[in-house]
Amino acid sequence: MKVAVLGAAGGIGQALALLLKVQLPAGSELSLYDIAPVTPGVAADVSHIPTAVKVQGFAGEDPTPALQGADVVLISAGVARKPGMDRSDLFNINAGIVRNLIEKVAVTCPKACVGIITNPVNTTVAIAAEVLKKAGVYDKRKLFGVTTLDIIRSETFVSELKNLEPTRTTVPVIGGHSGVTILPLLSQVQYAEWKEEEIAPLTKRIQNAGTEVVEAKAGGGSATLSMAQAAARFALSLVKALKGENVVECTYVEGDGKYARFFAQPVRLGKEGVEEILPLGPLSAFEQQALDAMLTTLRADIELGEKFVNQ
Ligand code: NAD
Ligand code: LMR
Repeated sequence: MKVAVLGAAGGIGQALALLLKVQLPAGSELSLYDIAPVTPGVAADVSHIPTAVKVQGFAGEDPTPALQGADVVLISAGVARKPGMDRSDLFNINAGIVRNLIEKVAVTCPKACVGIITNPVNTTVAIAAEVLKKAGVYDKRKLFGVTTLDIIRSETFVSELKNLEPTRTTVPVIGGHSGVTILPLLSQVQYAEWKEEEIAPLTKRIQNAGTEVVEAKAGGGSATLSMAQAAARFALSLVKALKGENVVECTYVEGDGKYARFFAQPVRLGKEGVEEILPLGPLSAFEQQALDAMLTTLRADIELGEKFVNQ
């Protein structure tokens, strides 16, 4: 398996490179790319860790050498939020960055599974899909918005509140990756009994957790370390699935379109990417109402990305 990280010199990219170097299966290759000239140095640095994962680093304007033969491409290239900004404020810069990188993916490794981390994810995934479609290589089973950070945050906050073992707590999170479009399905958490008054504040904390980090970093960027862990978890699941194991993850994909063209939901991953869209399961009245209420925002975010490519 060859995994390429685009944006590899950034806050997420460097930590993700470290986690992948340590955790990818023996024999894997890790390809690091960023416009920043430090990138070959980042690759040299992690390459000194003694695991059987080969690392290469590439800098400059063209990601092509990093993408050759890639099975999985993770994209965290772009700008991050500062206090007072919303994820949608990143659209003007990040939309073009994602479009240009995906154009290269379409030519160089069109069969790769692509995980988009760059915000606003609700929109950048739609941009990627439209670019791949225009190039005639779109396979909806292989394009993902990485929403795993919402899941690991939910697992952390729920296990703290309910005194559960964090590594054994699972929380499905559906919808998208911003504000009200992030919907943790707390009613589905095993071994957690909820008081009604706990649900709304905890849901809100999960929805605002990115802002919590942005404000705490006070102008120094957004979540990088927890995001790298989330992206590594997602990438390792994907690698396992591509090697033939069945793995279930919640991720933002093009499914049956029941709620929106792209929707974060539980999926079964396999050798070709998404093998099956799984049912959401029973929703509480609170969750059903929150799901209905997010759809206008989510659909508008998606349409913005589609229009960016097609107009
Ligand atoms: P960062 O500024 O630390 O790193 C971004 C990197 O992208 C930099 O090294 C920069 O040189 C590189 N870059 C910029 N343009 C590029 C291009 N055209 N080609 C290649 N590399 C390019 O930012 P970060 O903290 O790593 O965050 C990156 C992105 O991830 C942001 O958009 C942020 O909002 C997003 N993010 C998403 C999630 C999520 O849950 N999906 C979580 C955290 C952050
Ligand atoms: C997050 O959820 O931490 C990321 O999307 C970054 C941000 O801007 O909040």
